[in-house]
Amino acid sequence: MNKPDPEQRTMAPDGQPEPAQPDWRREFPIDTVQDNEVARRDFTTFMVLTSLAFVVGQFWIVVQNRFRGQKGPPAELEIGRVDEIPIGGAKLFHYPGEHDPCLLLRTDTQTFLAYDQKCTHLSCAVVPSVEEGCLLCPCHLGSFDLHSGRAIAGPPRRPLTRITLEIRAGVIYATGIELRTV
Ligand code: FES
Repeated sequence: MNKPDPEQRTMAPDGQPEPAQPDWRREFPIDTVQDNEVARRDFTTFMVLTSLAFVVGQFWIVVQNRFRGQKGPPAELEIGRVDEIPIGGAKLFHYPGEHDPCLLLRTDTQTFLAYDQKCTHLSCAVVPSVEEGCLLCPCHLGSFDLHSGRAIAGPPRRPLTRITLEIRAGVIYATGIELRTV
């Protein structure tokens, strides 16, 4: 059997000389040796770039967390007047930032509740169902208790983030964020 010549640049995968190759392979020769080298080099480049992106991503998360910790408690926000929200009604607001959607809910004359609208499973927007006493996530049918924010059905395990409220002179204010794990 012919030993493949390592110096030969254009080599058929079966190692046979060119005259023994079929027409299609002679007309479209592939430099197998060079092709393998390129594939290895491409793979190494891909792995290095992927690892680099991963390291940069981790570094970015650390920096974000560091700055978030230094920001202090969020400022107070006026959400609306008591009399503009009917019993069983809800109002969308953004707190603490403009990209943080939250829900204000009124369950009876005296009780107002507010939660971060992001589901704790994969961050879909939850929808209040005051009559059923829960907040529903349509993405994977997760469900949270209306009064506590606890996960009661579906994939979510952690409770919704609660927004603390204060009512002064008939006006409802968001005053802080209550992070909970259970
Ligand atoms: S994102 Fe809410 S249940 Fe999956």
